[in-house]
Amino acid sequence: MTKITAAISAVGKYVPEYVLTNKELESYVETNDEWITSRTGIKERRILKGEGLGTSYMAIKASEDLLRKGNIDPKEIDLVIVATATPDLPIASTAAYVATEIGAVNAFGYDLQAACSSFLYGMSTAAAYIGSGRYKKVLLIGADKMSSIIDYSDRATCIIFGDGAGAALFEPNYEGLGLQDEYLRSDGVGRDFLRIEAGGSIMPTTKETVADKKHFVYQEGKTVFKYAVSNMADVAEKMLSRNNLTEPDIQWLVAHQANKRIIEATAKRVGVSPEKVMMNIHRYGNTTSATLPLLLADYETQLKKGDNLIFAAFGGGFTWGAAYVKWGYNS
Ligand code: UT7
Repeated sequence: MTKITAAISAVGKYVPEYVLTNKELESYVETNDEWITSRTGIKERRILKGEGLGTSYMAIKASEDLLRKGNIDPKEIDLVIVATATPDLPIASTAAYVATEIGAVNAFGYDLQAACSSFLYGMSTAAAYIGSGRYKKVLLIGADKMSSIIDYSDRATCIIFGDGAGAALFEPNYEGLGLQDEYLRSDGVGRDFLRIEAGGSIMPTTKETVADKKHFVYQEGKTVFKYAVSNMADVAEKMLSRNNLTEPDIQWLVAHQANKRIIEATAKRVGVSPEKVMMNIHRYGNTTSATLPLLLADYETQLKKGDNLIFAAFGGGFTWGAAYVKWGYNS
């Protein structure tokens, strides 16, 4: 029997209209465009404005973009996974709502949370469902409304994050395209350095937790930076060595957009030349679960069937990993 692999067959994206520039941030906190650009590579990010609009709003729009471009009937979708750190509600799966709203009435849906590694882990999950032979169309959406959990008086975090959503459809492939290999890791030592302290089961919401700003993202940037650089590079390198790949075999590095310096360090360690490194951090900042699918959507027209892509991500938890994917189609 021919082996089933899970290939990406369509992608879509959505970013909100509102552009939050470095200049505007200068009016909120003690910072400047030169510092933000040189330390992170970020020039602007998108912010979702509007009463009552949550992560699902962007996830739905990204999915609709995918369905339209790929000419896909939503009724054929078997499963919708929303990778997110900012679900609409703590309870009531965002994915269930998204599936219903896009007309995926025959699908089941649930959320997956692994901070900035959510989409990468979700690729593994989607591919496993497809590989099992039980499901034929798995829609994986990476979406985050980071502006809902950012303190815009904290310069250590507010300059980094933005809102956005990207979506990818996984389908069975019999030509050997799609996910080839992965190496996923986590280490609980990380939760002291990147987290939201309150609102979970350890510290439920009280007047005090709100007053003390414990519902916003806290990050010890320098420490996270060090772990991110060494771990992302390690796993990306492992993808190459374990699959006997060298630089000419790789067409694209698809790395989580947290900091331009981290992405460049990963590329350097793996030996991938700069023109093969997907980059859009200057436009969107760090959109957490959305960075990888936003890259795929932005670079879609340059991707060719059979291209070798190395994915790498690092995030809160800590969670991190890499994947080796053969691109599934010409657009
Ligand atoms: O996506 C999930 C994983 N997250 C990451 O991968 C993020 C990893 N971390 C980073 O990207 C970087 O650590 C940051 C961008 C968050 C910070 O950059 P850094 O080069 O590590 O800066 P730093 O925190 O070491 O601060 C350097 C200096 C400090 O001043 P002193 O002590 O040297 O006088 C800070 O107070 O820059 C100062 N600083 C700022 N200055 C202007 C910190 N934030 C700012 C700011 N504007 N926004």
